[in-house]
Amino acid sequence: TPPDDAVMILLGASGDLTRRKLVPALFQLYRSGLMPGRFAIIGVARRPYDDPSFRERLREGIRERCAPQDEEDRCSEFLEHVEYFRGDLEAPDTYASLRDHLDRGGDRYPSGRLFYFSLKPDLFIEAAHHLREHGLIDSDSAAQAGEGAWRRAVIEKPFGHDLESARALNRALLEGLDEKQIFRIDHYVGKEAVQNVMAFRFANTLFEPVLNRTCVDHIQLTAAEALGVGGGRGGYYDRYGAIRDMLSNHLLQLLALLTMEPPSGLDSDAIHNEKTKVLKALRVDWRGDASPAFCRAQYAAGVMDDGTRAVGYRDEDRVDRDSETESYAAVRLSIDNWRWSGVPVFVRTGKRMKRKLTEVAVHFRHPPLKLFRGVECEGAHCDVRGVQPNKLIFRIQPQEGIFLNMAVKRPTLPFVVEQADMDFSYAGKWGRELPEAYERLLLDALRGDTTLFTRSDEVEAGWSVVEPVLKAMDRTPLYSYPAGSWGPAEADRLFQCSDLPDECLC
Ligand code: BG6
Repeated sequence: TPPDDAVMILLGASGDLTRRKLVPALFQLYRSGLMPGRFAIIGVARRPYDDPSFRERLREGIRERCAPQDEEDRCSEFLEHVEYFRGDLEAPDTYASLRDHLDRGGDRYPSGRLFYFSLKPDLFIEAAHHLREHGLIDSDSAAQAGEGAWRRAVIEKPFGHDLESARALNRALLEGLDEKQIFRIDHYVGKEAVQNVMAFRFANTLFEPVLNRTCVDHIQLTAAEALGVGGGRGGYYDRYGAIRDMLSNHLLQLLALLTMEPPSGLDSDAIHNEKTKVLKALRVDWRGDASPAFCRAQYAAGVMDDGTRAVGYRDEDRVDRDSETESYAAVRLSIDNWRWSGVPVFVRTGKRMKRKLTEVAVHFRHPPLKLFRGVECEGAHCDVRGVQPNKLIFRIQPQEGIFLNMAVKRPTLPFVVEQADMDFSYAGKWGRELPEAYERLLLDALRGDTTLFTRSDEVEAGWSVVEPVLKAMDRTPLYSYPAGSWGPAEADRLFQCSDLPDECLC
């Protein structure tokens, strides 16, 4: 489907997201010929820019992210479509004058309107209310929208602070728009290697039949970041923390794609139905105090991999000096359904860890008969009890790819079994940079395709999973780990599967 002609109204456009992510992604679409035939971009914010100074700010962002030097003309041509509208988005008058401005624009603006909420999260509900009150958004089913005059809203994360606030935000949005007009963004779902999880599972015959409790021992999902919460993000992060910022959304989305049942088709509803269903089956796997299901921690000062010294979390800009916010969280989950019952799922995420790494590892069981138990086994992956079971790794970033570990006989006279890998890497196969998640997602929003966005019930199901952890937060110790490490030693207790069957090797 080609993108629809549109005026894109970026609410909160003076923020970093517009400069660093949104506009560079739109420019990439433009240079690939994927922007609509007619489009305009209006940035709305309070800061005193005018069109030229706003465009200059965006040009810098484009240069930093993507544009080679020789594309300055193309960049200027693109920026001709951009304008700035100064206004305080907390004031109702701004919405009235924005509406008048759009109406007066006549043919200059296409009739389809896409509002992008990249505002302070506290303002989402208020902004949705004012947009509706001033007739800027309206549900398609309310029939006022004429031919081509569609209305859409893209909502940045965080989508709420907990289950209750997410429900309130859903209600506010659904008062003015139909579900199909709401695009709740989760940029992880737009990542190439995340989209590929579906292709890998459902476009191959080989793997899907073994992704279940009979063959899988446990699943580990890791999202480690080397970055801290500097760069002006401290204020936001200190209110949210790792569970809300990463786990409740990005990581559960990734897990849902890996563990959901095959959808009946590739349409948006079929996929969202399956994702919601598995999210509803996810539970925190509490097993009493002896084996905690949840571990949280904060980074202390330390030395990063590249030798730089990093300050501790509480010394970061805009972070409370006595903050109790977790910059690391690990949770053990279970999936209470026929396919996954009894398979532990370990999820961990943290900032200022050794290096950036996002991957999902599916650890398979030992073969039922351990023929090679006594046979010599060598190599880094070998286990004292014999050959290590298969492991399937979805590397989301960096060095995106899919890796399968298996045991093979070494070509020597003594019978030695060792580990070997079957690798698929994007770099090896295509050798070029992958598109940014925002390119895919913005293009889909312009096409009106909600497949890679999250539906209201799905978002609420995600919050329901972490709700017990949020409630237990005050009662859970806050551990510490040095910046540049792999997290707190205490988290290892979660990953010890002592009460699991003998086959478990985690
Ligand atoms: C954002 C979080 O949604 O995702 C950030 O708010 C985090 O805290 C970022 O750093 C990670 O995204 P990526 O694409 O760099 O893994």
